[in-house]
Amino acid sequence: MNIVDPNLHVDRESRITLGVLRGVGLGPGDPELMTLRAARQVSEAKIVAYFSKRGKPSHARAIAARFIAKDCAELPLTYPLTTEIPFDHPDYVAALAAFYEESAERLALHLSLGRDVALLCEGDPMLYGSFMHLQTRLSSRFSVEVCAGVSGMSGCFASARQPMTWGDDVLTVIPATLPREALAMRLAATDAAVVMKLGGNLGKLRLALQDAKLTERAIYVERGTMADEKIMRLTDKRDDDAPYFALVLVPGDGRRP
Ligand SMILES: C[S@@+](CC[C@H](N)C(=O)[O-])C[C@H]1O[C@@H](n2cnc3c(N)ncnc32)[C@H](O)[C@@H]1O
Repeated sequence: MNIVDPNLHVDRESRITLGVLRGVGLGPGDPELMTLRAARQVSEAKIVAYFSKRGKPSHARAIAARFIAKDCAELPLTYPLTTEIPFDHPDYVAALAAFYEESAERLALHLSLGRDVALLCEGDPMLYGSFMHLQTRLSSRFSVEVCAGVSGMSGCFASARQPMTWGDDVLTVIPATLPREALAMRLAATDAAVVMKLGGNLGKLRLALQDAKLTERAIYVERGTMADEKIMRLTDKRDDDAPYFALVLVPGDGRRP
């Protein structure tokens, strides 16, 4: 919990009022699914920061673009290249930890001078969000606010016009990065599911869905709510190529009158 210490607002030595870090949830991709608060916070921001992959435009920035003021300063936080290293390898963990540390200090520089920073976040900041890595590093020194956003999975269920849950259905949110056996076990034990972070994991996920006898119910959503979204039954998808913004839904099918 980010329990705000009232003394956090002022730097005791310089007496400068410290800046506030805002994690701004921007929704699943369609800018019309931004909240009123997110639109206001982005419009009022003098500094926006956002994560991006090397050589690629920031997706969060693209969602919020129409609200970013002309004179707003931008702080891109570019992930280090780690594609050749498995995500559980110590080198990967160390590279990411160093990156988050450095990013936090870049923001701290502005916050300590009394400048607020809006960190643009896809979906909801607290659902597998990179924002959380900066919040944990900065919340003992600065005030942190979080603006909830419509999550990617909410947007995808709505775009696919599929129910998440009925009655007493249990919904499980699962990262596709888990091993096949763990995926199958979680899928078999739930009534409804969202499998995120498909990336290069779709082939493995298909096998886990087969193990859990859920293949026929699975729906593939790519870039949900965006202009070029793709929605199809997973059985109709011929290849195992899935971009970063893709997930698989297993809609609830439970008790109802
Ligand atoms: C690191 S997580 C961040 C989730 C984000 N904070 C949220 O609330 O949705 C990124 C994963 O979310 C899923 N995702 C988010 N938005 C999506 C969208 N519009 N369409 C499809 N998948 C999406 C994908 O599975 C992607 O790999």
